Amino acid sequence: MKLRLFLILCLGIFANMTVAQTRWFDDKNLTYTGVYYYPEHWDESQWERDFKRMHDLGFEFTHFAEFAWAQLEPEEGKYDFGWLDRAVQLADKYGLKVVMCTSTATPPVWLSRKYSEILIKKEDGTVLDHGARQHASFASPVYRELAYRMIEQLARRYGNDKRIVGWQLDNEPGVQFDYNKAAEEGFRAFLKEKYKDISALNKAWGTAFWSQVYTSFDEITLPKTAQMFMNHHQILDYRRFAARQTTEFLDGQCELIKKYARNQWVTTNYIPNYEEGHIGGSHKLDFVSYTRYMVYGDNEGIGRRGYRVGNPLRIAWANDFFRPVSGTYGVMELQPGQVNWGGINPQPFPGAVRLWLWSVFAGGSDFVCTYRFRQPLYGTEQYHYGIVGTDGTTVTPGGHEYEQFIKEIKKLRNYAREREVKPDCYLARKTAILFNHENSWSISRQKQNRTWSTLGHIDKYYRTLKSFGAPVDFITENADFSEYPVMIVPAYQMADKQLVDRWTEYVKNGGNLVVTCRTAQKDRYGRLPETRFGAMIDELTGNELEFYDLLLPHDPGYVSFAGKTYRWNTWGEILKPGKESEVWAVYEKEFYEGKPAVTFRKLGKGTVTYVGVDSKDGALERDILKKLYTQLGIDTMNLPYGVTMEYRNGFGIVLNYGEKTYQFALPDGAEVLIGDVEIPTAGVLVFKIK
Ligand code: GAL
Repeated sequence: MKLRLFLILCLGIFANMTVAQTRWFDDKNLTYTGVYYYPEHWDESQWERDFKRMHDLGFEFTHFAEFAWAQLEPEEGKYDFGWLDRAVQLADKYGLKVVMCTSTATPPVWLSRKYSEILIKKEDGTVLDHGARQHASFASPVYRELAYRMIEQLARRYGNDKRIVGWQLDNEPGVQFDYNKAAEEGFRAFLKEKYKDISALNKAWGTAFWSQVYTSFDEITLPKTAQMFMNHHQILDYRRFAARQTTEFLDGQCELIKKYARNQWVTTNYIPNYEEGHIGGSHKLDFVSYTRYMVYGDNEGIGRRGYRVGNPLRIAWANDFFRPVSGTYGVMELQPGQVNWGGINPQPFPGAVRLWLWSVFAGGSDFVCTYRFRQPLYGTEQYHYGIVGTDGTTVTPGGHEYEQFIKEIKKLRNYAREREVKPDCYLARKTAILFNHENSWSISRQKQNRTWSTLGHIDKYYRTLKSFGAPVDFITENADFSEYPVMIVPAYQMADKQLVDRWTEYVKNGGNLVVTCRTAQKDRYGRLPETRFGAMIDELTGNELEFYDLLLPHDPGYVSFAGKTYRWNTWGEILKPGKESEVWAVYEKEFYEGKPAVTFRKLGKGTVTYVGVDSKDGALERDILKKLYTQLGIDTMNLPYGVTMEYRNGFGIVLNYGEKTYQFALPDGAEVLIGDVEIPTAGVLVFKIK
């Protein structure tokens, strides 16, 4: 009897596990490639020709109804799905699956006129209007209600339709810094829920300072961030509230769809604006996706025409940020050619579109989709390239690069292994970067050095890790730290005892922690704890922080490490090492010459490296990490900036964003499947591992 009960329990757990681990995509197909189509923009007589062409180019799915609310609900409560039904049917005829969208980024005019309270109000008082897009306030209960009504109709109609594989909510939903009345009321409700009592809020926001004290929640307004010296504790809460409006609205949409959806995934297409704080916050989504544009003017690439190829780590960073949120990700929009919205919109370098496609794949994505099939003939995006040009039939250079990529993926499918088949030496380098957008919000209001950049600081570590050929995950505090041999905690300004205890436990159990300057100097409200400055992590790092210094950019200071000198100016902490600290780097040519900037210690089974300074060009960070990984016996590569390498499904993928041809040394027993070991600019090498 007992045994039977035990078996039933085990089976029950197993059943739950399989549900939780259901994957939407299969390893053997590697990735799917799709393309946006707006049937409502084109004469219906052309749809079939267009779907056939998509199919002939190899596309496997298309993407509908993204901005079509006016066509779906032409009058309040009157729906028209006939056109969409016909488009779905024709796409299916040509073997194209459909990603359905919720259209909430473009409310119809009847809505904006009848319910004008839904319009976003900017901080300067401007009220947005019909005629563009994204003018409706997520904080408006009326808007949410109307959106949910339309979504429910859509979900009821297409939720049980096998031709629809998944859903995209809204379009690039960002955090709205909205000063609409509903947002203000929502903010007060949020604060009441959080603090209960106004005195708790006064304490958290430090309102004794400058006579800012409140006597009731009703006196609180949305903070005017443009006003000089506005209370930054208040701004911190406002940003939390604003991010929550977006995450709740998406969760609400997702729940509705899930009521009807059978075996369809739900996601949205975020812009990778890591600092806004909404990505990963909508817990109901099955996974997160992103949109990426690589060439739009003066953005950094390598060399004279590097802007045609794009920033070598722009896609890599997004991959490593999105994948850990739920274990997989897709890219919903990838640039097909010239865009129309940059300051200057150059042609991409021949091969660059394919390079980006492979960059997305390298990070472990399950699909990639391009915006858009046809170049628009009217409207805001007339100069935006598509897979075909203005005549609707001529395939653009980017279109041909998609075609090539799709063919190459189909070839690779013959060799595909499980997703996690990756070499041991690669896995041994796995590193986490702990990230919380709130640190960057908090620092941005009190930088102390205008040349400081939080993301720039993190990038110095990230760039180094990618040159090591290390797999990197950006993780949050919810993650299991113990999965990572090394974890970097960069400029993590806001912390508490629980978090510091978790870092300590990670180290004591064998983890190797790299903590950098500005970490754990404030509490979660952004206040300084009533201790010696920076003392929250003294026991962990083994140091005390004597003071910090900030220098002018045109006259930087010096740090020496292992016989080399490095420059810095944005932030430098002068450390007092404890007995167990090994001093790795010291300041030079200042009144605190010889005092430590970087220390290292052993603690339990692990180590703590404390980097109290932010170097000018990242060279110090690179050499520190190099020494640490060598000491830990972790083998690293030495890829030049511009070349990245990742593994998935038993394949190695090497990408060259550099100016020069790169000669890759193939690992023993590897077999080249695509490209060559001599990788030209915008070239790709894919090999099969043993
Ligand atoms: C994206 C947006 C698309 C389209 C595209 C043009 O940011 O999500 O709808 O406007 O830009 O490049």
